[in-house]
Amino acid sequence: MQALPDTLCYLNGEYTPVSKAKVSVLDRGFIFGDGIYEVVPVYGRKLFRFDEHMARLARSLASLSIDNPHSAEEWLERCRRLIAELPEEDQMIYIQVTRGVAVRDHAMTKGIAPTVFMMVNAMKLPSAETLKKGVACVTASDFRWERADIKSTSLLGNVLARQISVDAGATETILMRDGLLTEASSSNVWVVRGGTVFGSPKSKHVLEGIRYELIRELCEEEGIAYDLRPISEAELRGADELMLSSASKEVLPVTQLDAHKVGDGQPGPVFARLHAAYQRAKAAQSI
Ligand SMILES: Cc1ncc(COP(=O)(O)O)c(C=O)c1O
Repeated sequence: MQALPDTLCYLNGEYTPVSKAKVSVLDRGFIFGDGIYEVVPVYGRKLFRFDEHMARLARSLASLSIDNPHSAEEWLERCRRLIAELPEEDQMIYIQVTRGVAVRDHAMTKGIAPTVFMMVNAMKLPSAETLKKGVACVTASDFRWERADIKSTSLLGNVLARQISVDAGATETILMRDGLLTEASSSNVWVVRGGTVFGSPKSKHVLEGIRYELIRELCEEEGIAYDLRPISEAELRGADELMLSSASKEVLPVTQLDAHKVGDGQPGPVFARLHAAYQRAKAAQSI
């Protein structure tokens, strides 16, 4: 087991080492997974796509009828305080808001203060070798609930899905619902066919990653066609290139799917262009 991090974290107004931060066992996050989260990348001590992450955090809270406990400026101030604490320039901020502490009852308790937790860790990006070789993925049926669009801390379905790839020695589990691609256990999936980048349509079955819009912008910059439409299993399996995206994976080439080569089994040219464009975006746009 990895040693637990003991960096500074934020809990309900206090900055404290992670080992000292304590929440009530009656917190609805602990009892029901009744909360939401965000993961914001930080490059060179600057927050990447912060406004977009704040907008999604607000949407997630609204979908659970939890009032946003902070303004964007207050969130920013707290993020900056945590960023200043770590020696690493590139970091990941984790933000979690739960409904709060209450007598156990499924009904949404009113009038309680949300629990706010934030922590920061050094960013762990895919290595140069991984980017050169690509990663292996496996497929599975998407057995998660019907509100995968909410970035909720109720992640048991995603945990079970991820473990399928862990057990198979692969990096991610790509999920299919009713014969169509949804996403992966903790990433969005991009299918390249005939030079076009295809993604699943935004729906209740897919978490809209912050990279959805970013990849659209990068494709536009690069003159690569981009389209969101239902993607069949046959299209997934017959892809020229496959990619994953997430805050910590950025864009990552998938070169094996269920032990078969994707395309020629090497990271492809569309990946290479998007990855380079992503690196330029990191350098250009941060708060
Ligand atoms: C289920 C799921 N889909 C997609 C993503 C990608 O989202 P983002 O690009 O905002 O990191 C994540 C990120 O963790 C995820 O958990």
